[in-house]
Amino acid sequence: MTEQERRTEEAGSGAAPDAEDRRGLSQGIAVAEGARPQKGLTEEKVFELNDVAVLYDGNPAVREISFDVFKNRITALIGPSGCGKSTLIRCFNRMNDLIPIARVEGEILYHGEDLYGPNVDPVQVRKLIGMVFQKPNPFPKSIYDNIAFGPRTLGMKGDMDDIVERALRRGALWDEVKDRLDENAYGLSGGQQQRLCIARCVAVEPDVILMDEPCSALDPISTGKIEDLMMELKDDYSIVIVTHNMQQAARVSDMTAFLIVELDASEKNRTGRIVEYDETQTIFTNPSDQRTEDYVTGKVG
Ligand SMILES: Nc1ncnc2c1ncn2[C@@H]1O[C@H](COP(=O)(O)OP(=O)(O)O)[C@@H](O)[C@H]1O
Ligand SMILES: [Mg+2]
Repeated sequence: MTEQERRTEEAGSGAAPDAEDRRGLSQGIAVAEGARPQKGLTEEKVFELNDVAVLYDGNPAVREISFDVFKNRITALIGPSGCGKSTLIRCFNRMNDLIPIARVEGEILYHGEDLYGPNVDPVQVRKLIGMVFQKPNPFPKSIYDNIAFGPRTLGMKGDMDDIVERALRRGALWDEVKDRLDENAYGLSGGQQQRLCIARCVAVEPDVILMDEPCSALDPISTGKIEDLMMELKDDYSIVIVTHNMQQAARVSDMTAFLIVELDASEKNRTGRIVEYDETQTIFTNPSDQRTEDYVTGKVG
């Protein structure tokens, strides 16, 4: 993790919205409860991307990205290394704002509201849209304090012991740590640390959880636990996951976006684009683009 990501993580994912203000991105803009379609009746959109591009120093790393992310679904971003998966997932909580040379173009709507609009508070965005990184990054604090940090910072109401227990249960970690909550989180295994980071994320009751290759540093057993956890969490959250593990995308996700990287005419600039976005089952069993088929069947990588 870069210094920048670490700082963002500390500033952002520990924090949380008030219960009354789960959707509004800035003070005063709240999405009316009745305005939202009921779960199950239609596919509610959490994000709508319209012709999004991200440029570093003026060179597009991804471009012409348009797709919707649906509520209570797991959306996977797959594609070869360097195609812009991390760049793209950072658009969803404005983390590219923290990279001085990065510029985001196009439109990203979050529950219908412009995520990059002038009245939007980026700090509020990162409260609502939590992120879990490739390498587990617990704070050098006790297990208890890792979870309590965000709720305390936000002044969340309720008994802190209950908040911590609930989050650790949601993170499928409670039974393993309930007798050593005051021990330093660094004493946990890598897989436990990652579940702690997920629990820390859910402790502040976000709306969306972003995960950038959350299992790539973990063994298969820990990976399986996190995959199970993701499938439980999607009842309450919308999840976007970057993975280079196609079996993982096929196992856990509902929707999959497949990206490739294209060279421009000068063969100097590489830009990622979406080849295909569809239900995961379609992407893996009946893709409409030959390049998707070649990738998911392992012909190219
Ligand atoms: N902070 C950055 N500054 C400059 N270029 C970057 C930065 N992050 C990523 N890139 C470039 O953007 C392209 C896509 O990178 P990335 O989003 O990390 O791809 P992936 O996650 O799919 O491997 C790469 O060419 C990479 O070098
Ligand atoms: Mg990446």
